[in-house]
Amino acid sequence: MYSRNLRADPGGANPQGATPVVPYGGRLIETVCDDDQERRHLWSRMDPLPRIRLSRVELRDTLLLGGGAYSPLCGFMGPETYRSVLEAGALPSGLAWGLPVSLSVSREELAWMQRGREVGLYYHDTPVAVMQVSEVFRWDPAAELQALYGTEDPGHASVRGRLRRRKTHLLAGPVKLVINPRSHLLQSGVLWPRDTRRLFQRDGWSRVAAIHSLDPWQRTHEYLLKATLETMDGLLLHTPLQRESGDAGLPGNVVADARETLLTHYFPRGRVLQTHLAGGLPDQGWRARLQQAIVSQNYGCSHIVISGSDGRGVVDETRVSARPQAMEHPVIATLRLEEAFHCDACGSIATEKSCPHDHSRRAAMPEQQILQRLLSGEPLPPQVARPEVARILSRGVSSEMTSRLVSGGRHVFPHAGEIRPESRECFAGHKAAVLWMTGLSGAGKSTVAHRLERELLYTGHRVCVLDGDGLRNGLCRDLDFSRESRRENLRRAAEVARIMADAGMLVLASFISPYREEREMAREIIGAGFYEVYVEASLETCEARDPKGLYKRARLGAIPEFTGVSAPYEAPEDPDMHVNTSVHELDACVRQLMQAMAAAGLLRSAQPRPLFHRPSSGKHPSRFDIQ
Ligand code: ADX
Repeated sequence: MYSRNLRADPGGANPQGATPVVPYGGRLIETVCDDDQERRHLWSRMDPLPRIRLSRVELRDTLLLGGGAYSPLCGFMGPETYRSVLEAGALPSGLAWGLPVSLSVSREELAWMQRGREVGLYYHDTPVAVMQVSEVFRWDPAAELQALYGTEDPGHASVRGRLRRRKTHLLAGPVKLVINPRSHLLQSGVLWPRDTRRLFQRDGWSRVAAIHSLDPWQRTHEYLLKATLETMDGLLLHTPLQRESGDAGLPGNVVADARETLLTHYFPRGRVLQTHLAGGLPDQGWRARLQQAIVSQNYGCSHIVISGSDGRGVVDETRVSARPQAMEHPVIATLRLEEAFHCDACGSIATEKSCPHDHSRRAAMPEQQILQRLLSGEPLPPQVARPEVARILSRGVSSEMTSRLVSGGRHVFPHAGEIRPESRECFAGHKAAVLWMTGLSGAGKSTVAHRLERELLYTGHRVCVLDGDGLRNGLCRDLDFSRESRRENLRRAAEVARIMADAGMLVLASFISPYREEREMAREIIGAGFYEVYVEASLETCEARDPKGLYKRARLGAIPEFTGVSAPYEAPEDPDMHVNTSVHELDACVRQLMQAMAAAGLLRSAQPRPLFHRPSSGKHPSRFDIQ
C-alpha cells in the first residue's frame, strides 16, 4: 500500500537524484503486467489451464518473484537450485540465498498436469500468475526441515500447512504476474521494487533503511523508527497484510489504523514508505535475515534494520561455509538496534545502551496483555501508546467485539487456552487424532468404528465415535442428501471432530463423505491429526448386506440421491489407512487399523496389543453380515 504520505520530500537529501543500490545479482527481473488489455487476454488464456491453488506463503512468493523482489530468480526453484539453497545457503551461481522459493502440489493436482505446460496460479478464486512448468520433483519435508531448522518435526507452520494439504511434489518454472493491481489482495496497491527505486531516485534518497516484521504503533516502535530516521533519508516499512481473522492477537485492521495514525501525526511527511507483503517474510534466524536483506536490496534500500534480541548477522558464515569463496552476499548494510522499553527512572523510552537503571524500572506489556486490557475497556498507559493511538485501538477492538456479538460476524477472538495440546497428550498417554472413515452405506464404517472404540477404550485410550446417522438425528437434522447439504453436514462434523481432537481424544468419525473435495475440506478443518480411512466394500457386498433396507428402497426410486445408486461415491485414491470388509472379518479389520494407528504413533504403546476377546454374547457382531 502507498503510505498516505507517499510523496517523498527531497528536503535534506540530494535533489539531483540518487542511484539506488544495484539489484541483487545485477538486474531487476520482474514480470508485472501493467497493461489492462494484456492482462485480460492472459486471464482468458488462463481459463482452460489447470489451476493451482496457492497457499498464503506461495502467494507472497509469487508476488515477490513477479515484482522483482526475488531477483535474480524469475520463477519457482528447480531441483538443483532448491537443493543448493538447502545444503549451501546459496544459489548454484554462488549468490547467497536463505530460503527455498518453492511451489507445492498434491498428487491429484499433478495427475492433471504435464511438464512443459502452463498452469494458472490462483489465490482462492483470484488469478495471480501464469506459470510455465519446467520441472516437477518430489518434495521431502523431513530433509527440508532438517536443513532449514535442524529438526524433522513438522511443527513449522508452512511445512505443516503443506503436509495437511497433502502436497507431495514441487513445481519449478517462471511466473508471469497477471494479478489486477486493484485486487483486494494488494489492498490499495503494493509498491513493487521498480516503484520504490524510481521514488528513491526522484527524491534523491541514497540512504534508505528497510524494516521488516514490525507493525509500528507502540511508543517503543516509534522510538526505533525515529532513531533510524535520524541518519537515513527515508524508511521503507514492509508491513504484513492484515492478519487472518481468528488470530488471538490484536485485529490486523485495527493495528493498521493505529499505525497510520502514528505515521501521519508523528513522522515527517513522505519520509516513511510502506509496502505490504502477504503473510510477511519470516524473521527468525540467519536464513530469514538473509532473505529480508535480498528483498530489501531489490527494493533499492541501502540498509536493513535488525532490532530486538536476535543478534545474529545477516549472513552467518559458519552456517553457509560450504561455498565461502564463491559466495556473493547482499551489499546492503545492517543497522542493529537494541530492544527498546519504557524506563520509569529515565521517564522515557530507552535501550540497554542508553539506560543505566535497574530492570525493575522498565515497563513491558506483551500483546496478549494489551489485548486483555483493551477488551476489558481499560485504557492503555501513555508509556505504551500515544493517547490518540490508544483511543483508536480501544475503539477498534470494542467495535470488533460488538460486530461479533451483534452479527455473529467473522471478527472473533477465540480465547487462548491455558493447556497446550502436548500437555493433553501427555496426560492421555497418546496423541489426539481423527480417523475419518469413509465408505459406502453398509460398508461397515460404524461397525468397525464401534468395535475399534471398544478396543481402544479397553487399552486405555480416550476415544469416541462420531457417526453420520447419529449427527443427522440431531445437529444436522435440518440437512438432506443434496451435494450442498452433504457438504454442510461434513463441515459441521469436521468442526465437531476438531473440537474433540483438540480436547485430546481419538475421534472415530464415520461418514459416507462421498466426495473427495469434502474430505479434503475435512482435512483442512481438522489439520495435521486427520487420517483418511477407507472402509472398502464393493457395492454388490453392501447391497447384499443392505442392513437398513435402504438399497432396496433406493433401487425402487424411493430414496433420491442414494450414494452408489443414484449419487456417486468417489473412492479415496491414497488413503492413510485402508480396510476391506468384503475380504476381511470385523476383528481382522480392527486389528489392521490398530496396527496402522500404532505405526502412525497414535497409540499408548507403539506395539499393537491383542484385541480384547470377550465371550461373544451374540450382541456384538463379528462379521459384516450382522449389522
Ligand atoms: S454423508 O454423505 O453426508 O456423509 P452420512 O454419513 O452423514 O452421509 O449419512 C449416511 C446415512 O444416512 C446412511 O448410512 C443412511 O443410513 C442414511 N441415508 C439416508 N438417505 C441417504 C442417501 N440418499 N444417501 C446415503 N445415505 C443416506
